[in-house]
Amino acid sequence: MAKSRFKKWFIRILKGLGILFVLLFVTGAILYYNNTNYDMYSLYVSDGVLKTKLKNSDTKTVAEELVAQMTFDEKVNQLYGEKFAGGMAKMGINFIFKERFPHIYVGKNERLGIPPWVLSDGPRGARVLDKDIDAVTTFPVGMARGATWNPELEFEVHKVIGQEMRANKVNYGATPCINLLRHPGWGRAQETYGEDPWLLGEFGVAAVKGLETHNVMACPKHFALNSIENSRWVVDVKVDERTLREVYLPHFKKTVQEGKPASIMSAYNLVNGDYCGESKYLLTDILKNEWGFEGFVTTDWVAGLYDGVKGVQAGLHVEMPVSQAYKPELLQEAIDNGQITEAAIDRLVTESLTTRLKYAIGDDQSKYTHDIIGKPSSVALARQVAEESMVLLKNDGVLPFHPKKGKTIAVIGRLADIENTGDRGSSDSNPIYVETPYEGIQKYQEAKGNTVVLNDGSDIESAKKLAQEADEVVLVVGFTHEDEGEYIIFSREKMEEAAKTGKAPEGTTIGGDRPDLSLLATDQSLIKAIAPQNKNLALVYVGGSAIDMMEWEDEVPAILFAWYAGMEGGAALANILYGEVSPSGKLPFSIAKEQKDYPYFTPYIKEIAYGYYHGYTLFDKKGITPAYPFGFGMSYTNFSYDSLIVAQPALLKDDALQVNVKVTNSGEVTAKEVVQLYVGFSNSKVDRPIKLLRDFNKVALAPRETKNITLEVPVKDLAWYNPETKTWEVETMAYEVYVGGSSKTDDLLKAEFSVMEPKDEDTDH
Ligand code: BGC
Repeated sequence: MAKSRFKKWFIRILKGLGILFVLLFVTGAILYYNNTNYDMYSLYVSDGVLKTKLKNSDTKTVAEELVAQMTFDEKVNQLYGEKFAGGMAKMGINFIFKERFPHIYVGKNERLGIPPWVLSDGPRGARVLDKDIDAVTTFPVGMARGATWNPELEFEVHKVIGQEMRANKVNYGATPCINLLRHPGWGRAQETYGEDPWLLGEFGVAAVKGLETHNVMACPKHFALNSIENSRWVVDVKVDERTLREVYLPHFKKTVQEGKPASIMSAYNLVNGDYCGESKYLLTDILKNEWGFEGFVTTDWVAGLYDGVKGVQAGLHVEMPVSQAYKPELLQEAIDNGQITEAAIDRLVTESLTTRLKYAIGDDQSKYTHDIIGKPSSVALARQVAEESMVLLKNDGVLPFHPKKGKTIAVIGRLADIENTGDRGSSDSNPIYVETPYEGIQKYQEAKGNTVVLNDGSDIESAKKLAQEADEVVLVVGFTHEDEGEYIIFSREKMEEAAKTGKAPEGTTIGGDRPDLSLLATDQSLIKAIAPQNKNLALVYVGGSAIDMMEWEDEVPAILFAWYAGMEGGAALANILYGEVSPSGKLPFSIAKEQKDYPYFTPYIKEIAYGYYHGYTLFDKKGITPAYPFGFGMSYTNFSYDSLIVAQPALLKDDALQVNVKVTNSGEVTAKEVVQLYVGFSNSKVDRPIKLLRDFNKVALAPRETKNITLEVPVKDLAWYNPETKTWEVETMAYEVYVGGSSKTDDLLKAEFSVMEPKDEDTDH
């Protein structure tokens, strides 16, 4: 009896499990099908009436008319990406099955004929892919491109990214990342362009203009003070007004005012107590009212907005990628309570529609076919950028390696033959192929009849033997997405807890900050073991930011920063090592001798104060000699500077400082040099940096060639921000101007000029 009851129950349970399994399978299949084969919508206005209207009157008027026709729910629909459940499922399922971002459609209104917009990340290549596309042109990471000091290349890079976004049915690029590198341990350092606001601003403008050439809305990010990764959702950055204005915002201001991007992405973190997406001060007072930004602000993804009411009050236009805080019922309640008005919502919707409809009337869709992806010219650009980005920090006569025939080359290291294009967070891109360091060298040397032997360094003895026997050694060390990059953790609570305790959460996932700047222990031991075996050795570093080289620097004769060099990185590396191209990259940050010389930094923190000084301004001020200064990088030739002349030594506040300098390539190879101009403030009545970068120009010089280079700085760009008067003030005083090949005093020529008040007769008219 008991036995047959047991059997009955057993069968019931089995049946139940079976049904559950079938249900799960069917639901999974439906979700999978719907979300990986989702409908694709046109991003362009097709409705005849709306199109005619847009052609005949200004977009703002049309946007106002459309908003007037919307129901309340339709208005709120414009304020977020997709509905929570559908949007999250789409993201999750695409991530698991396709390892790619889906098309999230924002602001679609079929009734009124309003097309949606779709975001793709893009710092190093178009991230979101069309159904039949698997890969795109993949460039070196942002920091590598910053090291080119060549904004014209950045313009071209973003033109290609924009074009490939269009071919993948995307019209909004979450790029460029222009957050300032305050400390080299920042996990996402690789996405931005360096430590200096001037350099960041120049690259930000170039990137935005390049992307928008192809009618793709640019979205510089993350606004603002997003320079710690592992606590990014919870950290409150305290900053005083002067530091904010002079150090952390100038590059955003320049990018907004000169690049005119369609959009801006707010940062996750808080600034002085407010989440950036809820900060009226940042989004409305500064961005919109002071800087005249006419586009729309979107949040960073998923944890970008907590309080919809505050979002509306702050002037935040769109919550991404799904509706969490911007919900019709919540906003209706806030209107009923008198916390916000419907007019405020109307204003937000009108503003974003006014901007995005301008991009939605393009008639050029046929130009963006799949076959433009990975064009030979785009791939060649990826290689040129990689070449121009590599920074030669040390060279005791080893590089370029001798071009003799019949030699054996040892390529050693864990990273020597792996595809390593950077982090696997949002800035990832699917490369068409990746040429590894080994493959690049192998291909180059094969044609010359030389032998290239690979050793991954896991067996130190065999690596040592190979190094001893080889004619030359290329030792590749550094990081991968596991060591640095966007921090992937799915629990806000865990991040909050870690920030409170200052300790890493259990089960930490990939990427994130590097609290210790040393190389991994395995790499350090490998260097110590291999370096003594062969004097003909070049150390190649792959990574996104500064490292601590103290332990082993003296033991290697040559150090080359090769970064995450993109799909053509291997070919570029071979061209540099073998002298086909002279290195011309310059450090976009300073490298300290000792880690304690950088500003305070820790990944797990709830509140942190950002001070006025960091990078070269800090080292200059404290009289600390860095290991390698900002703007430094060697070449296979020598450049000499002379005849620094200030065109007009006494200037008024509306003038521009103009200086001329002669730069000579005194060596035997054609090479490029980055001519840098810094302004000094030693006579200031307030505390100011010793010097600040204010212009630069990358020039190519043939052997023995001299070029006359002109550099220019509008005097208004010498101003400091007076927090008491809340204005930018140009001091009337004598200034120093320095010109040379790096920020190091010995590398700079010096002259003086002054800024004066206008004489009476100058002000009469
Ligand atoms: C990143 C953003 C990115 C967004 C969408 C976020 O996690 O911080 O930079 O644009 O995801 O992928």
